[in-house]
Amino acid sequence: MTRRPPKKNEKSGRGPCLQSNLEGTRTMAIQITELTELRPMRHARANLKKMTKKTRKNGVKRKSNGHDSIIRDGQTPYQVRNISNVLSYGVNITLFPPHLELVPQLNEVYELELAFYESKILSDEEIIRNGAYFARVGNTLTRHFLICSGEPVRLPQHSSSRLRSFFQTNQFKTGYATHGLFPYRGKFHPQMIKGLINAMGLKPGDTVLDPMMGSGTLLIEARLMGIKSIGIDASPFCRFMAQVKLDALTVPLTPVREALKNSRAVYEHFVKLAGQPNRGSKKRFEGYSGDFFSIRDSSAEYPLKPSNRGNLPAGSEIPEVYNFFLLAYLDSAGYSERSDRKSPYDQFHAILERYLFVAEKIQSVLAGTESELAESKALEGDARRLSLRDSSVDGIIFSPPYSFAIDYLENDSFHLGFLGIDIDKLREEMIGLRGRTLRQKFELYKTDMERVISECARLLRPGRICCIVVGTNNNQLSKILEVSPDEVKGIDELLVELGKPHGLHLIRKLSRQITGMANTMRTEFIVMLQRR
Ligand SMILES: C[S@@+](CC[C@H](N)C(=O)[O-])C[C@H]1O[C@@H](n2cnc3c(N)ncnc32)[C@H](O)[C@@H]1O
Repeated sequence: MTRRPPKKNEKSGRGPCLQSNLEGTRTMAIQITELTELRPMRHARANLKKMTKKTRKNGVKRKSNGHDSIIRDGQTPYQVRNISNVLSYGVNITLFPPHLELVPQLNEVYELELAFYESKILSDEEIIRNGAYFARVGNTLTRHFLICSGEPVRLPQHSSSRLRSFFQTNQFKTGYATHGLFPYRGKFHPQMIKGLINAMGLKPGDTVLDPMMGSGTLLIEARLMGIKSIGIDASPFCRFMAQVKLDALTVPLTPVREALKNSRAVYEHFVKLAGQPNRGSKKRFEGYSGDFFSIRDSSAEYPLKPSNRGNLPAGSEIPEVYNFFLLAYLDSAGYSERSDRKSPYDQFHAILERYLFVAEKIQSVLAGTESELAESKALEGDARRLSLRDSSVDGIIFSPPYSFAIDYLENDSFHLGFLGIDIDKLREEMIGLRGRTLRQKFELYKTDMERVISECARLLRPGRICCIVVGTNNNQLSKILEVSPDEVKGIDELLVELGKPHGLHLIRKLSRQITGMANTMRTEFIVMLQRR
């Protein structure tokens, strides 16, 4: 229905109302009265009567003090009868049933959207166990709320106030469970991953794949949710790190507590094996060459026998415990390399203390809730050539390098060097790092991503969904392609196009702001492709 423009001095209609608002002479209450008198009210009142008896097919019925506040009739979108009712209800009651309470710190549209999908797809019991965006279902607190509550991740004393405030304001999004154990650039937001797993309709018993798992965020979330997972990364260090973070959900804590009491001995054990980190220098690790405890091979025997444990605490011969110490050591050595504020030993002690805190916190929540952890496999491999069967997974979530924004090998060179890995050889496998000139790199990136997408299509069962989280470094690409940044085609669009010939079709795209520390990008996209 088209409305005629209001005549001069006419009392009803938006024109005079807006005007009086601009003049600042009339109160909100007056505007409310005017709004309720708006437009073809006879028609609206008739509808209102009907709606108080029963909810109309296309109508939205909300009651407060016996009055309906919003009416959708056949022609006009919404008629506002009582704006104070609308405002006091807020969006929540329109989107969610009243017994669902959202988690604090939910502040992005994509989060509200994923929460909405959870409320539609999951039962109340499923929200309590696996929901990402609800704090409470009726009187029952959700597991996500319990896992994230309490003191957030403990940061080193010298951490900047910016970093501290990041973790405080993101308590329900990141840093919970074992996600905070090792800082990995370009890591997923764990809460978002949980929300996506739900939105994709994955249930306990299904299998989800991340062909570029990085630090293993997807695997940890899936494991906690009872969903089987497989993660693959070209970097052996990623495989090791992801495995330790998975194991930390169940690692025996007594040896870790003992190690903390005698952390000097543990520290010296690693220094003797691998040398001291180069304090405060950017120099890369040079002290060791060779295959460090066969960490690259998950099935290898550990050479550390109880008899040659030295001063390490009892229990260190358990691979999960030993690797927990080793990751803490590598983490601390990385810090020491970047900063000399603390001695390498003090740094190690502080990080081991934080690791223990993280493991104790998540294990105590898991002990208090009936929750079976699912099987997860962290593997080393190439996303372009996956040795998995056709149609063998129920969902895929991954985040590729955003063309070549982050040099993962440069970032991890200390740890890779420590593990005796030939970085130059590995570079040939790494998507986004292959090629000499930037132009060459971009061409190879597109070829490589085409192969990854075709592998995803091959592995995904028909009807299932592949989610790709990706952003575009417009400035970088605009220089390579010699176009203005506005003309650069997003990597998200490129991936959607690559998916089509392989039967992967776009069903939804969400955008989210990147709020991490130092970003070259502000927005990234969640692209949802369905296998036809
Ligand atoms: C954006 S990161 C993924 C981060 C991950 N989502 C997380 O939560 O930690 C991209 C990853 O792709 C990996 N990668 C690069 N080339 C690869 C390849 N050919 N096969 C498998 N993984 C590869 C990198 O090692 C890096 O860990």
